[in-house]
Amino acid sequence: MTTQMQELDGRAIPHEERLPAILRRLTKLQPGESLVLVAPHEPSKLLRMLLAEFPRCFEWGPLQRGPQAWRWQFTARTPQPRTVNGYLGWDHRRMEALLAQGAALAHGADWAGAQAKLDAYADALLRHADVEDEILFPAYEKLSGGLADSPTAMMRHEHAEIRAAVHDLAHAARQRDLAALQSAMDRLDTIAPEHHAKEEEILFPAMDEALQPADREALVERLLLA
Ligand SMILES: [Fe+2]
Ligand SMILES: [Fe+2]
Repeated sequence: MTTQMQELDGRAIPHEERLPAILRRLTKLQPGESLVLVAPHEPSKLLRMLLAEFPRCFEWGPLQRGPQAWRWQFTARTPQPRTVNGYLGWDHRRMEALLAQGAALAHGADWAGAQAKLDAYADALLRHADVEDEILFPAYEKLSGGLADSPTAMMRHEHAEIRAAVHDLAHAARQRDLAALQSAMDRLDTIAPEHHAKEEEILFPAMDEALQPADREALVERLLLA
């Protein structure tokens, strides 16, 4: 789904025209269509404005977080109420697409292309795992009353393993080392798909069900702004 995304380089637009130009492009997107925005800094102001003025209309997540450029992926959505599963499931799918594209480019010996996709995958995944560790799991632990058998301890442990494999994967792409890249892919393959499935089938639906609609929406907005 991330193969042919439109891109808008906000750095090339004069400052006073930038925001209206970005909004024009974003509001033309049909549900499911994506735009990559390139910015000279983190687009926090834009994100807050989108939530205020176009609530429920877009999913988003980073593809690059500095130091020279910030690249953010925006995908238009049908403006239905938000759910944890809806947003974080969308983020899982886009990460899986970046990983598959990066691996295919590496196997085709396009190392520059592979490195770009896998760096984007690493930025997306590290932010995703941080957001779950710092916002989502504490919210789950609060809702479940600090149960001793909370699944979040296992999920945090899996995040640590996934982060280590992603670090090795990005390193292998920079070194253009196909064997090391495949080894990191194999490690990821034993953890990440099952981890995502447990979240989407158990943890996220449990949170969506336990939260009141307004609290659920507020939690997803915190995840979007993190
Ligand atoms: Fe996770
Ligand atoms: Fe996740």
